[in-house]
Amino acid sequence: MKFFLDTANLKEIREGASLGIVDGVTTNPSLVAKEGRSLEEVAREICDLVDGPISLEVISIESKEMIEEARRLARLHKNVVVKLPMIREGVKALKVLSGEGIRVNMTLIFSPSQALIAAKNGAYIVSPFVGRLDDISSEGMNLISDILKIYDNYGFNTQILVASIRHPVHVVQAARLGAHIATMPYSVLEQLLKHPLTDIGLEKFLADWQKRKELLPK
Ligand code: G3P
Repeated sequence: MKFFLDTANLKEIREGASLGIVDGVTTNPSLVAKEGRSLEEVAREICDLVDGPISLEVISIESKEMIEEARRLARLHKNVVVKLPMIREGVKALKVLSGEGIRVNMTLIFSPSQALIAAKNGAYIVSPFVGRLDDISSEGMNLISDILKIYDNYGFNTQILVASIRHPVHVVQAARLGAHIATMPYSVLEQLLKHPLTDIGLEKFLADWQKRKELLPK
């Protein structure tokens, strides 16, 4: 399973990358806006830090403008994957861009039918938002298993990127189902590797060893 960081914050990306477990990065307009810098500027620096797919989202909502914006973003770096919203105009733009070989991540996916349409038009990645579904009392993970089943039925190569992850259990559930990618905030990445019994265990090992100082190498 690939781990992506869902952030445009360079400090977090640097920290995550130093662990060696970050395979890519996803951003969205809200995350980039938080950084107070241009998308191009932030994107170039992210591409220098992580050698993997970097999703950059368009802000246009008409297909013609989306296509132009997407082509511009794709030219920034070979690792850029363009994110398009799963709306009517986005579907049209997806068909054109995937035909040109530009990798597209269809975002704001909330139903299996949206994921099916995105795959039919050649999406490289789909981003179903599990946390936002959970927020409205709908089981987000059910969407992931439905999409996996549908893609398997027809042999689609579109990768399923589980987005809007809020906690480590989401990542483990996605891994159990076999989703290709989980994108997560830096805080969730940190939580994934921690366990209180690991810390307690290590503390005890070191304390016991300290009691026998004479055994330490001279
Ligand atoms: O980048 C898309 C997605 O991961 C957003 O997550 O927490 O804003 O629902 P969230």
